[in-house]
Amino acid sequence: MRWKDCKEWEDIGLPLSTTSNEAAKMYDAIVTQYMSGFSDDSVGGIDGAIRRMTAADPNFVFGQIISNGLTLLGSTTSTWNNPELKSNIEKMAQSANNDMITWKEKLHIKAVKLYSEGDFTGASDTWENILLQQPTDMLAFRFAIDCYFNRGEMAQYRDCAARLMPFWKSGKISQSMYGYLKSWHAFGLEETNFLDEAEKECQQSLELNSRDGVANHTLAHVMEMQCRYDEGIRYLNDTVHNNQKHAFEGHVYWHLGLYYIEKGDYEAALSLYDEYLGSKIDSGAMLDVTDAAAFLQRLEYEGVNVGSRWLKVFNFIKTHVEDQALVFNDVHFMIAALGAKQQGIANDLLESIRNFIRSTSKDHTVAKAFKKAGIPICESLIAYHCGDFAKVVNTFNPVRYSTLQITGSDAQRDLFNLMLIHSALKSPEMEHQLLARSLLYERDALKPGSPMTARLLEKATVSSLE
Ligand SMILES: [Fe+2]
Repeated sequence: MRWKDCKEWEDIGLPLSTTSNEAAKMYDAIVTQYMSGFSDDSVGGIDGAIRRMTAADPNFVFGQIISNGLTLLGSTTSTWNNPELKSNIEKMAQSANNDMITWKEKLHIKAVKLYSEGDFTGASDTWENILLQQPTDMLAFRFAIDCYFNRGEMAQYRDCAARLMPFWKSGKISQSMYGYLKSWHAFGLEETNFLDEAEKECQQSLELNSRDGVANHTLAHVMEMQCRYDEGIRYLNDTVHNNQKHAFEGHVYWHLGLYYIEKGDYEAALSLYDEYLGSKIDSGAMLDVTDAAAFLQRLEYEGVNVGSRWLKVFNFIKTHVEDQALVFNDVHFMIAALGAKQQGIANDLLESIRNFIRSTSKDHTVAKAFKKAGIPICESLIAYHCGDFAKVVNTFNPVRYSTLQITGSDAQRDLFNLMLIHSALKSPEMEHQLLARSLLYERDALKPGSPMTARLLEKATVSSLE
């Protein structure tokens, strides 16, 4: 791969504040990997490229911006319980006082700092400010949409990409990069229920980059939402080899497994887990860990015995109970702790979340989401584990329309709809059993043709007549 040097960055209207060609090239390597999702071994992945960029020009502040920004948005840790990260952010913020740095670097520093303080709205507004002045700033775009995702604001996610389209299409940015913009846009379309438009956008992205892993993943979502399971199984099995070294490499297997669970093919789902999802936990990427926990929980809802598989997920999450980086992560940590029958760790996690809420500003994005939806979900998961199904319904049903705040995709958050449906089915209260049937009618209307909904409806009809 050939990377852009200082002059080439200038030629496309995005001058960098470094005179080191090596630093400029590594900056290109970082942004390209972040946009495409593929890790490039020739530069040691994103981490290797950051190290080389920093070594080539220690004063190039983008080294600090990218390193801190990716750590925060990747949500594997947070400034809440990581003093080293907090100190790195403070050090980066000091750089903003240097008169030598550019307006754009100052704004990037401001945005990363705001995010680290829990002001996700302030952070995305700041990245949008950069994009208004320099719409082809690829880093500002990726940080902005990741921030929107972590805010649960998918319409803004979609529109952020849409606003940049004309600039990227006709500008000096490569057509390959324009393709990646379209594939991120497609995911925003899919998550806001423009499914046909999303599919069309993915096909166009794939014409520009035939191995586009982001478009491939979005098509998996479209097929999930439209219950095209047989087609999805064929499509993902045919294309999965294209995702090697992609950030969604493991996650696409999760989507494939969801199709199997929907179809009631639990043997295929368990084999997939054992071959891919379980081993992916070692990657350290939070997406792989939450996928593993969610997958096992779905199988258990279906009545499948997953045996000792929880243990590996639990061994990862037990060191993260005090992170509170994102509600989405923590509710999956709760699932894994309860799945592994580690009630003590589950209690510690809930207490840590409550302490986090008490100790942070009332405007902290994550604390607000915990209060609104995270705590009720955790309490519901515990109640389910204890067999108090009526309590799950009474706790979760009133907040079920607020789950977007915990982030994640529609497909991922469907897990909590299933928790509610299974609880309503198992609750001794007739009112809850009637609710189960209504929830399933609702699910059927949103996803017509789901075999899982049909199976559950059969149970709901029987139990409501008893
Ligand atoms: Fe997904």
